[in-house]
Amino acid sequence: MPTLLHIDSSPLGQGTSFTRELTAEFAARWRDTHPGGKVIYRDLARLEIPEPTAEWVAAIFTHEAAQSEAQKKLLKISEEFIADLYEAGEYVIGVPMHNFSVPSKLKLWIDQVVRRDKTFSYGTGIPEGLLIDKKATFLIASGGVYDPGTPLASYDLIEPYLRNVFGFIGVTDCSFVHAGGTAKLMYGVDRPTILQPALDAVRTSFQAA
Ligand SMILES: Cc1cc2nc3c(=O)[nH]c(=O)nc-3n(C[C@H](O)[C@H](O)[C@H](O)COP(=O)(O)O)c2cc1C
Repeated sequence: MPTLLHIDSSPLGQGTSFTRELTAEFAARWRDTHPGGKVIYRDLARLEIPEPTAEWVAAIFTHEAAQSEAQKKLLKISEEFIADLYEAGEYVIGVPMHNFSVPSKLKLWIDQVVRRDKTFSYGTGIPEGLLIDKKATFLIASGGVYDPGTPLASYDLIEPYLRNVFGFIGVTDCSFVHAGGTAKLMYGVDRPTILQPALDAVRTSFQAA
């Protein structure tokens, strides 16, 4: 069954968050084009995601057969997040820019899913991503504008980071849509005007597919 993994990471709610509006539009279009498809939804802002503590690191380096019940419990959410990545063929991820990078909840999720012999392997001596034939779309919102050729372009750490980290686990088919300049809302520009180019880009991606 075609399956979409839909992830939001903005601390802001529906109606306020720009990225949530973009991912909702993407998911609606995806449902239209995949009747009978399944959508797995993860709202990272509302989830308790453990950080990698010493105990957590020890757990991931303990062979599964030897893991204690406490270690299994510690890794439960990681196993669930990784299962999402395998079950879905396509991912859409809302990414609000926080201090030029991804929000901490999304970083915690990444720490839970980038795991040796789960999503990448050093089996052949060189790192190899284990997620095959997956496609990811990242819908990014930022208060400022970081488009290529603009003065702050090099401050956008999101796109290079996500391209590399997803590529590392095998997801090389990555698309990025940027809704830059959301801070214009504070200077009287209305929300639909700010979001329109990104919404158009999402809709166009479905026409092209
Ligand atoms: C903690 C925090 C840090 C932020 N850092 C930046 C930043 O470095 N650059 C920027 O352009 N906007 C920054 N912003 C503004 C957000 O990127 C902007 O409000 C965007 O619309 C957030 O997406 P959302 O509406 O889906 O939450 C920051 C916002 C917050 C809450």
